[in-house]
Amino acid sequence: MIEARNITRTYRTRGAFTGERVVQALRGVDFTLPKGGAVSFIGESGCGKTTLGKILTGLETFDGGELVIDGVELSKVPERRRAQYFRRIQMIHQDPYSALNPTRTIDQILGDPLRMRAKETGDRTGSVLDRAAELLELVGLEPDGVLPKYPHQLSGGQRQRVVIARALTVDPEVLIADEAVSMIDVSMRLGILGLLRDLRTRLGISLLFITHDVATARYVGDGGELHVIYRGEVIERGATDTVIQSPVHPYTQCLLSAVPVMRGLEEPGPDRLVPLGALDERTETPGCLFAPRCPFADERCTGAHPVLDRTSGVEQEHACFHPVPRRVVAVETAGQH
Ligand SMILES: Nc1ncnc2c1ncn2[C@@H]1O[C@H](COP(=O)(O)OP(=O)(O)OP(=O)(O)O)[C@@H](O)[C@H]1O
Ligand SMILES: [Mg+2]
Repeated sequence: MIEARNITRTYRTRGAFTGERVVQALRGVDFTLPKGGAVSFIGESGCGKTTLGKILTGLETFDGGELVIDGVELSKVPERRRAQYFRRIQMIHQDPYSALNPTRTIDQILGDPLRMRAKETGDRTGSVLDRAAELLELVGLEPDGVLPKYPHQLSGGQRQRVVIARALTVDPEVLIADEAVSMIDVSMRLGILGLLRDLRTRLGISLLFITHDVATARYVGDGGELHVIYRGEVIERGATDTVIQSPVHPYTQCLLSAVPVMRGLEEPGPDRLVPLGALDERTETPGCLFAPRCPFADERCTGAHPVLDRTSGVEQEHACFHPVPRRVVAVETAGQH
C-alpha cells in the first residue's frame, strides 16, 4: 500500500540569536506498509515521527527518496493529481482538542466531507445523516447523543473518536495515528487503541502507528513490524514482539528500560540500562548517532556509521557494531498503565 524508499528531510531555519540551524529530521527511512498491515515507529521526542507522518499525507515535502502509493511512484504524478493518492492516507493527530472546528456541530463536521465524498463517487444511496450515524457507531459512539453536539461538549476520548470517524468519511486505505492517545485521559486510552486495532481487522485498513510509548506500540502493532527511530534514522526493525522481547540496539534497550514497572516498586535489575541523558540533535558525527549517549560505545562507534543489517542468531535488523540481545525487565501492556 505504501512503500517509502530512502526518505530524507532536512530543515534549515535561521533565528536572530541562534544563527542557522540545520536539523536532519529524517535520514533515509525505508519501509513497506502492506494492505491491512501495521507498522509502528517508536522514538523519543524530536526523532522525526511527525515529519514522517506529514510526508506520507502530503502535508510536508521531502528532499530525497521515493514514495510509492498503491504501486505508483508519486514524483511521476503531476502535482495537481497527487491529492487523490494522499486522500487514501488519513492522519489522526495527537491533539483532539484543536482538531475539530469548535463552531460546528458533529453532524456538520461529518456531513461536509461525506457530501463531498458522495459527489466524488456518485453514490446516492442512503442519506448523509445515516452515513454519519453509521460511522459514529463504528467508532463506538451513540449517534443520537453525539450528532447535535459541539466538540466542547464531548470528552477528549469522544472527540478523538469523532476525529477517527471524520478520517473514515473518505474511505481511507491507511490511517496514520500520530501519538493518537497521548493527550487523552488514561482511562479512555485503551478504548481508542482497541478501536484502531479493530478498524484494521474489520475494515482491512493499514495502520501506521507513531508513538514514543512502547506499551501502546505493542498493543496496537501486534502482528506487525516495529521500527525504532533515532534522530531520523531507523536503527532497529523487525517483528514487534521480537524487538520488544529481545531488543539488540542499546537505544532500543534504553527506551524499553524506561517503561515504568507498575507492579510494586521493582528496583532496576542488572539488565536495565541507565536512563537516557539529554539529546543534542545538532551535533553531527561520522560515527553512530547514538554513540555520544551509548554506554557501550567504543572507538569504532565514534569513527564509522553502522548501517541496518542482520547478524547471525538475531532475527531483527539493527544498526549497531555491538548487537547484544538483552532481556529487558517486564514491559507493561497498555491496559496495565
Ligand atoms: N517546520 C519545521 N522547521 C524546522 N524544524 C522542524 C520543523 N518541523 C520539525 N522540525 C525539527 O525536526 C525534528 C523532528 O521533528 P518531529 O516533529 O518530526 O519530531 P517528533 O518525533 O514528532 O517529536 P515529538 O515526539 O515531540 O512529537 C525536530 O528536531 C524538530 O525541531
Ligand atoms: Mg510529533
